[in-house]
Amino acid sequence: MAMRRAAASALRTVSASRFSATSPLHRYLHASPGSKKIVGVFYKANEYASMNPNFVGCVEGSLGIRDWLESQGHQYIVTDDKEGPDCELEKHIPDLHVLITTPFHPAYVTEERIKKAKNLQLLLTAGIGSDHIDLKAAAAAGLTVAEVTGSNVVSVAEDELMRILILVRNFLPGYHQVINGEWNVAGISHRAYDLEGKTVGTVGAGRIGRLLLQRLKPFNCNLLYHDRIKMDPELENQIGAKFEEDLDAMLPKCDIIVINTPLTEKTRGMFDKDRISKMKRGVLIVNNARGAIMDTQAVVDGCSSGHIAGYSGDVWYPQPAPKDHPWRYMPNQAMTPHISGTTIDAQLRYAAGVKDMLDRYFMGEAFPPQNYIVNEGKLASQYL
Ligand SMILES: NC(=O)c1ccc[n+]([C@@H]2O[C@H](COP(=O)([O-])OP(=O)(O)OC[C@H]3O[C@@H](n4cnc5c(N)ncnc54)[C@H](O)[C@@H]3O)[C@@H](O)[C@H]2O)c1
Repeated sequence: MAMRRAAASALRTVSASRFSATSPLHRYLHASPGSKKIVGVFYKANEYASMNPNFVGCVEGSLGIRDWLESQGHQYIVTDDKEGPDCELEKHIPDLHVLITTPFHPAYVTEERIKKAKNLQLLLTAGIGSDHIDLKAAAAAGLTVAEVTGSNVVSVAEDELMRILILVRNFLPGYHQVINGEWNVAGISHRAYDLEGKTVGTVGAGRIGRLLLQRLKPFNCNLLYHDRIKMDPELENQIGAKFEEDLDAMLPKCDIIVINTPLTEKTRGMFDKDRISKMKRGVLIVNNARGAIMDTQAVVDGCSSGHIAGYSGDVWYPQPAPKDHPWRYMPNQAMTPHISGTTIDAQLRYAAGVKDMLDRYFMGEAFPPQNYIVNEGKLASQYL
């Protein structure tokens, strides 16, 4: 209980440090009256749409806000068609006021699209991670970018724990044997280990990284973390993880490395050939943060040579990943489409968060400060 309280208080501190959202300029940005054109870009569910009444994160579910928006006189267009000059999204760019996007089926909001979007005021991310938006161009255009901070952090941390166990126990080859009618214990056990006693390092120990460390504690691992910011000593002590200021000094110590930073100018391509060569031979890597934090070919080469013994994650660049993306075909991978943060529980939370921000936008009120990624022409501190 004490640990939970301390974690919550630490999260509040991180949140509060992003922005103060009460200046007159901010209110001005949110105070234009009248009917709005709102466009949402989500993944399509097709035959799965009707299988769960809480499946709100897809085109068909439309975040469950259609009736609410239309009853107030707003126009709400929802599509999954986001690429190329003739796509549905492109048709609405010139006159939309609000664009809701999601990392699971990212509509890439380029500088060119921002320039064309003369009425655009607000970019909302249904989920966490707004790197599919050109944030500098959004700031220069005076747009507000906000996400539903915290909405799916438990979903992702749980998924990371699952991926760690899948890799450590060499689970997938056993599953494939069963499907293929085979039985070969040695084919799995020659490289299956216990998690206990292994060194796990998270690169990034914000909301998701901390939840993962808390979940790993009962497994009796040696826990390390690297971040821009050292945790408060009491929280660090409760979580039981040691701070590593120098990333390159942490990497050779880790049996398992988990990536938990946003994709920023500083983290793009952070794990290139050189960084991967600093890791232990036989390292396992879990990356649910963003695909572009890794150098694509360096990961393929590491998996092919055996330097990386297993790579698992749900994030790719671009998304959807093309059929010929090399991570689909490299050895020792346990990749999935981008799913960890879009459980039904997560969808309900980020749909509620989007609705809350739209409501505040219509009323000219500020958003919860931790949600802002671009506000009053400035980027949140970790994106600078
Ligand atoms: N796969 C999914 O479904 C999914 C869902 C949610 C979030 N994510 C990704 O996970 C990321 C992290 O989410 P979060 O909620 O934990 O965010 P957060 O802001 O709470 O934590 C991010 C942490 O990374 C640290 N950081 C940032 N830049 C760094 C750098 N250059 N070097 C070292 N540390 C750095 C920050 O200090 C912070 O502690 C998101 O930005 C998003 O890209 C993925």
